[in-house]
Amino acid sequence: MIRKYVYGTPFPTDAVMGSVEEAGEELPFFERDESGMFSYRLDENDIVYGLGEQVRGINKRGWQYISWNFDNPNHQEDTRSLYGAHNFIIISGEQTFGAFFDYAGKIEFDIGYTNRSVMRIKPAQNDLAVYIITGENEKDIAGQFRRLIGRSYIPPFWAFGYGQSRWGYRNEQDIRTVAAQYQAADIPLDSIYLDIDYMERYKDFTVDPNRFPDLKQLTSELKAQGIRLVPIIDAGVKIEEGYDVYEEGVQHNYFCKDAGGNDFVGAVWPGRVHFPDFLQPEARKWFGRKYAALTGLGIEGFWNDMNEPAIFYTEDRLADTCAEIQKLAAGNMGINEYFAFTGMVAGLNGNPGDYDKFYHNVNGKPVRHSEVHNLYGMNMTRAAAEALREICPDKRILFFSRSSYIGAHRYGGIWQGDNKSWWSHILQSMQQLPGLNMAGFLFTGADTGGFGSDTTEDQMLRWLQYSLFTPLFRNHSAEGTRMQELYCFDNVNAAAEMIRIRYCLIPYLYSEFLKAALLDNMMFRPLAFDFPKDPMARQTEDQLLLGNELMIAPVYRQNALGRSVYLPEEMMLVTMRSWDQYTTEILPRGHHYVDVALEELVFFIRRNKAIPFGKPASHTSALDREDLHLLGYPGSAYELYADDGCSLDPESSLTVSTLC
Ligand code: GLC
Repeated sequence: MIRKYVYGTPFPTDAVMGSVEEAGEELPFFERDESGMFSYRLDENDIVYGLGEQVRGINKRGWQYISWNFDNPNHQEDTRSLYGAHNFIIISGEQTFGAFFDYAGKIEFDIGYTNRSVMRIKPAQNDLAVYIITGENEKDIAGQFRRLIGRSYIPPFWAFGYGQSRWGYRNEQDIRTVAAQYQAADIPLDSIYLDIDYMERYKDFTVDPNRFPDLKQLTSELKAQGIRLVPIIDAGVKIEEGYDVYEEGVQHNYFCKDAGGNDFVGAVWPGRVHFPDFLQPEARKWFGRKYAALTGLGIEGFWNDMNEPAIFYTEDRLADTCAEIQKLAAGNMGINEYFAFTGMVAGLNGNPGDYDKFYHNVNGKPVRHSEVHNLYGMNMTRAAAEALREICPDKRILFFSRSSYIGAHRYGGIWQGDNKSWWSHILQSMQQLPGLNMAGFLFTGADTGGFGSDTTEDQMLRWLQYSLFTPLFRNHSAEGTRMQELYCFDNVNAAAEMIRIRYCLIPYLYSEFLKAALLDNMMFRPLAFDFPKDPMARQTEDQLLLGNELMIAPVYRQNALGRSVYLPEEMMLVTMRSWDQYTTEILPRGHHYVDVALEELVFFIRRNKAIPFGKPASHTSALDREDLHLLGYPGSAYELYADDGCSLDPESSLTVSTLC
């Protein structure tokens, strides 16, 4: 059952599809004080699931989280805000229910941070809708919520292939080299990503004519080899006379305005930019149609970036900061001045005050950006997705975004934002998956190998052994870091085998993805969602159920050659060195230590279940989706979902067959 409670005048977020009647009675479970803060007393054994892309564990208890979409590539345990705002939680325990705080601005979730046994939720302003969901259990509550927010985006089939990305591929030759090296090493590859360097001076929808003289030719040449190019699009539009996107945006008032009614200026990669006002339907249409410049060159996928929006600095704050620094530099800089100096410089990027300084035009009325901040990235992806349905009505386009709000899951996927080549970020990515699935984000994954800092061969192998299960499977790294294309490592074959195994698993992963999207299920679940009464399952933070058949328990610690695993029921341990070389062993319910050599992948098949397993191919279009065998308990069957992988409506070509 879903009940809706409205406070003040909420800004319409479009997270929820259709209309839900307001409940007549008082808000259950929570107390709400005069300040507008919601409180809930947590029982000792209560678990709080959700919040999607956030730091810390699967159980969010014990920290304060702030939904405020924010670019923080160095996030750690003490971070409070990341790239997405996913304000849905499920409280599981004494009372089990779901709660969605549908609010476009900043909202704090103090989940046993100030007081261990109290959860406090406080929006910046008291204009919001709260949805309370009760049901049979956590899975049922999550399913009801998913039906409320609408069907999740389904990408084209090829998007399940492996992708290679790096900020730093400078020209056509660099791209050709990546493709050739992957082929030479016999590693499957479906996509190569184009980061900002393909553009002319970082201008959206342009292609640098010197470095990429014939992108159309390059796109078709690579497509003939089964590889798609996926360019980045940034939110900020470069201010440059004669640049059509800039000129048109100014002319039609499609950019966000400052308090004086002028187009607001921030600075990102291109230098000074204006930010499209994605909250205006007309601006969305206009910006969305620009993607045609690239689809016209044969492009079939995009990633939308910097759309929190990230602001490196604003000119007035920069000027003030420089003036202050000059004052400081004139004197003898003591320790206090030194800290003031470094603080001012660090505070330029994503300064909260800057988000108060610009406005959206909502039906002719100015709305301060900070009040609707968390909707910006979602509406950028929506702009692209809606326009591309018109531009390419017959084709599914790959989309994913960095920033998001619930609702964006209908238009595209998300990657889990900038991370680092830290072992902790393997676990962090995994711990976000259930919360993301609860919020509708199924097509997701981390920058495999880590974006910032330098990875190592062993870390990359362990990361692959986790990421090969995530729908979005992309190796991405930042300029200036160590190269991490798989052919750069000594033990190329170990990495290649992991990618081959991924390709053998694609029929299964795609089938489970379709089921999750079409039936509003979670593809990745905490163990306790299926074993709610098992106290150990309720505490397990580093294993997940995948679909109805698998449990994953990756190794995510440096130098570890195995790990402890908890089995909530008897399961089959599968240990794979290569796609055609593996062992299986039935393990009873309980605690186990499992050996996992560096070149080995382990996963578990649930009791009396089996999964379809195929054969590798150099890319998804060469996969034989029929040539599958069942891997798992003898005598079990599997229900395989498949479709053509490209038409807009997956149901038009959906087939469901039973493999036994
Ligand atoms: C941002 C993105 C990252 C990209 C970089 C350069 O940091 O999150 O993925 O590589 O910008 O475009």
